[in-house]
Amino acid sequence: MASSIVEKFQSMEYGPAPEDPSEVNKWLDAHKRSFGHYINGEWTKVTASFETRNPATGELLASIAQGDAADVDRAVKAARAALPAWQALTGHQRARYLYAFARQVQKHSRHLAVLESMDNGKSIRESRDIDIPLVARHFYHHAGWAQLLGDLTNSGFDGEEFRGYTPVGVVGQIIPWNFPLLMFAWKVAPALAAGNTVVIKPAEFTPLTAIAMAEIADEVGLPKGVLNVINGDGATGAAIVEHPDIDKIAFTGSTEVGRIIRKATAKTPKKLSLELGGKSPFIVFDDADLDSAVEGLVDGIWFNQGQVCCAGSRLLVQERVAERLYDKIRARMETLRVGSPLDKAIDIGAIVDQVQYDRIQKLVAMGIAEGATCWQPEIPMPKNGLFIKPTLLTDVHPSSTVAQQEIFGPVLASMTFRTPAEAVELANNTTYGLAACVWSESINVALDVAAQVKAGVVWINSTNLFDAACGFGGYRESGYGREGGKEGMFEYLVPAWTHHAQKAEVVAEAHTDTSKADDNGSAAGVGIDRTVKQYIGGKQARPDSGYSFPVYNREGKLAGEAPLGNRKDIRNAVEAAGPAGNKWAKAAAHTRAQVLYYIAENLIQRREEIVRKLADFVGEAQAEVEFDSSVDRAFTYAAWCDKFEGSVHNPPFRMVTLAMKEAIGTVAVLAPDDAPLLGLLSLILPAIAMGNSVIAVPSERCATVIGDLYQIFDTSDLPGGVVNLVAGRPTELGKTLSEHDDVDAIWSFRDDASASMVKLGSAGNLKQVWTNEGRAIDWFDPKRAEGLWYLQHATQVKNIWVPYGE
Ligand code: NAI
Repeated sequence: MASSIVEKFQSMEYGPAPEDPSEVNKWLDAHKRSFGHYINGEWTKVTASFETRNPATGELLASIAQGDAADVDRAVKAARAALPAWQALTGHQRARYLYAFARQVQKHSRHLAVLESMDNGKSIRESRDIDIPLVARHFYHHAGWAQLLGDLTNSGFDGEEFRGYTPVGVVGQIIPWNFPLLMFAWKVAPALAAGNTVVIKPAEFTPLTAIAMAEIADEVGLPKGVLNVINGDGATGAAIVEHPDIDKIAFTGSTEVGRIIRKATAKTPKKLSLELGGKSPFIVFDDADLDSAVEGLVDGIWFNQGQVCCAGSRLLVQERVAERLYDKIRARMETLRVGSPLDKAIDIGAIVDQVQYDRIQKLVAMGIAEGATCWQPEIPMPKNGLFIKPTLLTDVHPSSTVAQQEIFGPVLASMTFRTPAEAVELANNTTYGLAACVWSESINVALDVAAQVKAGVVWINSTNLFDAACGFGGYRESGYGREGGKEGMFEYLVPAWTHHAQKAEVVAEAHTDTSKADDNGSAAGVGIDRTVKQYIGGKQARPDSGYSFPVYNREGKLAGEAPLGNRKDIRNAVEAAGPAGNKWAKAAAHTRAQVLYYIAENLIQRREEIVRKLADFVGEAQAEVEFDSSVDRAFTYAAWCDKFEGSVHNPPFRMVTLAMKEAIGTVAVLAPDDAPLLGLLSLILPAIAMGNSVIAVPSERCATVIGDLYQIFDTSDLPGGVVNLVAGRPTELGKTLSEHDDVDAIWSFRDDASASMVKLGSAGNLKQVWTNEGRAIDWFDPKRAEGLWYLQHATQVKNIWVPYGE
């Protein structure tokens, strides 16, 4: 043996360092390797089932019940029944349960880590040192939120942080297989902290740790029905999505399924958050510390076998250092160890399932066929099991499949750039927007690029860092909503008053006929001095249709003519709004505030005229109040411009996280009918205050109101294109807007039908949707019609992780 030790010493090769799976096997055996669903605190009998296997060995781990619609229904009923008692607890009592979860996770950390690695194929080093500590951290952090929410009263939580908000209700959660336990924690901890009850479905490849967590729920004495775990595949997931008594769906998984869920929930008021795929850029500038960047890449793309939604899968490297960096990457790849997930000294474990394995191989072959150069290290590989060598693709064209599609495997696709501007362009040349890494020793370059990249998370000189206090989630087709942080809590809360609101009344398509405007733009024969036009790109524009429609006053008499907009007017408005919004978002908040103050002042100047016209539609008494409230609203949002700011988080690493509130982009607004001026402005103003551009469709009933507004905007230094006003049929224009790929968010504050229509239309580019769910909003009550709820929807949080401290 002595010689072998000498040999080993000389070769410095690793010996095997296996983690012992016997405790987990005992646990599996104790359950006869068969698991039902966890409904109302009881385990169901297994009838129909599927198998879960260890992807590293092919060994059968257990048979798992395949849930159907009846199982889902039982779970939802249990969750609904458990809701009142769960909500009657004090915030402190709910916090105690979450603390107990955290403690149990720590106590069972080895069991959970080994089980996770056996079921998923990820290395024990990662499940033990990354996943499980983050799971515990998530429960601790959210126990804190439960405490701070305080107690639930009729008017919402009474704690300082979320006063006036209430739980959304019964929550359906569907999670993927890449971080089974971590995703469980990310979903369950905030939902329970916020006073909801849960029905969760783990992914079919990796059900075991969610089952172990259900056992922990028993151990901590969580009241029955508060947490229900249903197993099964996509069909089970669909049954959750479609269940009529679920109030919110939270999903993490593929963008494709995200779209299906968006459509499936369109006709319901279900709240929805989607955490979807990504194709995140890993940008390396020529002044970067290349050795650190290489280590970052190891964690960026080879972490979890590259099965990470925010994996740094697109390497963008500055041309001058590209070859040097590739040499270093190749040298480092030669030292990566692929092997048994339970070996404590391996870097890359097994791919979760044959389906994913085949998919990765197919995409790599496609990349090569499209011109990429493929390089893999000569390293020892296990003989059996689903293992793939770390792979580097160079000479990748920005439009090739491997640069655009999520591979979800240990495959890095590389491209070069020359200037920072080109880097940003390449980085944003994707439909996704989940994460980005920026490597540069220059703080100016790094933060400048971080601001321009369209991604929900940006890591500077670091990669794949997560923390419960720092929100995580995407821009664009990477989905919406955040997990973690305060913004993550809001996903599980709603303003209390929305639970009791009446249905909104919408005036049926008001106009029956169109009349041609003559050359002077005035309607013939009705004694109207002015025909209102569209307002697009800062200019008054005739409608493409060449038609106007009559607008009648309260007595049914013709009061004016409004332009009849069509899809071409919308197209022009979107083209104007995009670039105008980009500039507006970059303008200092102080500048935006001045413009909003100016709007308020100019409104006051024209009070008499506007009130007179408005009175024709809503009567004198409402017209005055509506006008004065509109002025107040303009002042309020002018005040908010430079105050609805981001925050700085202190994660437990040598970093700070700048949670920046950014504009969403181009926001389409379908205004309500009940307060034609105030309703319209209540939606336009928060959007522009936060740096968005707007395309607003006014109430048809009083569409001529836009004529007064554009004159105000014109004289208030509002840059052209920041607000565009297109009158016409809200249903028709709303559909076009909801389907337009260059619209980033759509807000519908009309009826149920309108809310459903925009949700359905939004599925294409997964634009953010916000609606009143057909509920009436008292636009005269500032508690309901302005403030936090509006500002939140007008912004999205980008978390920028910056190295900080010793
Ligand atoms: P998937 O999106 O099909 O599965 C994720 C979860 O959704 C699973 O629990 C699944 O059972 C459920 N599901 C599937 N169809 C459903 C439906 N119609 N309604 C409701 N729930 C449904 O992802 P899959 O097929 O496992 O992986 C395919 C690709 O998706 C991967 O290669 C990767 O590119 C991407 N993906 C992205 C993830 C992320 O974290 N962003 C996670 C998993 C996959």
